[in-house]
Amino acid sequence: MFSESDRVNHTELGGLTSTTTHSGGGVESCLLDGTPPPCMVVIVGASGDLTARKIIPALYNLYRNNGLPKPFFAVGCARTDLTTEIFRDRMKEALKRADLFEPDRWEEFASLLYYHPIEYDDPASFESLAVRLSELDQEFGTGGNKLFYLAIPPSLYPSTARMLGRAGLSAEGGKDGNWARIVVEKPFGRDLETAIDLDRTLHRYFKEKQIFRIDHYLAKETVQNILMFRFANAIFEPIWNRRYIESVHIMAAETLGVEHRSGYYEQAGVLRDMFQNHMMQLLSLTAMDPPSVFEADRVRDEKVRVYRTLRPFETDNLWDYLVLGQYDAGTIGGKKVPAYRQEGGVNFDSLIPTFASMKVFLDNWRWQGVPFYLTSGKRLARKLTEITIQFKEVPHSLFRSTLGEHITANKLTLGIYPDERITLTFQTKNPGARVCLRSVTMDFHYQDNDVGPVLDAYEKVLLDCMLGDQMLFWRQDGLERCWSFLTPILEECETCGGRSTMLLPYAAGSWGPDAVRKLQNDV
Ligand code: BG6
Repeated sequence: MFSESDRVNHTELGGLTSTTTHSGGGVESCLLDGTPPPCMVVIVGASGDLTARKIIPALYNLYRNNGLPKPFFAVGCARTDLTTEIFRDRMKEALKRADLFEPDRWEEFASLLYYHPIEYDDPASFESLAVRLSELDQEFGTGGNKLFYLAIPPSLYPSTARMLGRAGLSAEGGKDGNWARIVVEKPFGRDLETAIDLDRTLHRYFKEKQIFRIDHYLAKETVQNILMFRFANAIFEPIWNRRYIESVHIMAAETLGVEHRSGYYEQAGVLRDMFQNHMMQLLSLTAMDPPSVFEADRVRDEKVRVYRTLRPFETDNLWDYLVLGQYDAGTIGGKKVPAYRQEGGVNFDSLIPTFASMKVFLDNWRWQGVPFYLTSGKRLARKLTEITIQFKEVPHSLFRSTLGEHITANKLTLGIYPDERITLTFQTKNPGARVCLRSVTMDFHYQDNDVGPVLDAYEKVLLDCMLGDQMLFWRQDGLERCWSFLTPILEECETCGGRSTMLLPYAAGSWGPDAVRKLQNDV
């Protein structure tokens, strides 16, 4: 039964029938979930790469899809002394590079962009920013609602939050009942202690509900779909546990190396870069219990409950559960690529891991004894992010006289990227008189039966910040739980005597060190 406000849309594509159910509107209306209230977006660090490559193209796409509030304006701030005109020209070039520039729409969008130079450590500079924002706020009628996007190096987060706070820019609830929000990207500290420190500074000026900690993985459609898949279908949840599942594999493989980010990566390594954030989010979405309602805090509560059950690693047998690697020279896509240690800006004897695979257990009723293998690395054979649920074999084979005891177990794969698909492998009879089985795969391509545009990760993130929806953002307690799990591992990896021997080389273009096969020998 559907309520009056629901619509059901049936689509037929190549024999696959899909039914879209949602509240209000046609299929296109799935794109946006309401228009945000009037507001300004202030990009701190607007002369940098992130603004030109991601933030402005995302704002432009929202503008094209009627996703921006009305009224709205954006102000870029940075140390570089630019005029608004030059800033607009630069953003025009950025849109051209992103293949998004449309001459007939540009003028209107450009009229929403402003620039104001600031010095990050100068209170007077932030006071003058406050004055400028207030003038524009009056002019546009944005009700004092402000979103500050910190597109600056993380080392500047604390001082910038302080400057914003002292200039009164984090204040909420004035006569118009305005809001102020701050968006920060990882890394959120480099261990438990520094994460707590950063949070303390942010909280001096912003409340938790004002802080949006981005994890771009959460904004991926296929990642959001994990909860829909698990909890909008009755057939998976009863088997989503230790009785039926043998192991879970979460893989985020990349072909890219460190690119131009060696300065950051030499400090971070794969554990901080991928595990403390994206891999932990994929783990919690796969393992969490169903929340009672689909609301930011209820969903985040369930995720935190997963992190609480992570079994701590014992440092004396750490290497039975963890494999670390670093890429050597190799070939990817027919092109020779250098070893990590030969990349510009990397120490010639660097001990930074570019690959890790870990076997983790969750100490709770649902998952007791089920290994979760988390694997991520750079310069691997291909770009592949996916979650594989390996089911147990049938408990008893009635075909054993003809086929033997062993029948290939079912496997469910949630493809995140670039294969945005869900596949389920199962056994069927091979046609013919002889009893033979064959494995077949049911294959759902995520985009196949969907129509209309989709929001990319930055568009979704910006929209949710303007709407004040924290569902897809980290909450501090979750971050701290994950740091509590990873910090002792990092400390051991970074200080133990056998550190260099435990860092295994692998050829670029391979699937990582051979030792991973041993770690996962139950596959
Ligand atoms: C980032 C990491 O958070 O995620 C990068 O810092 C990594 O090192 C990237 O390349 C991977 O993201 P995606 O969306 O390409 O899987």
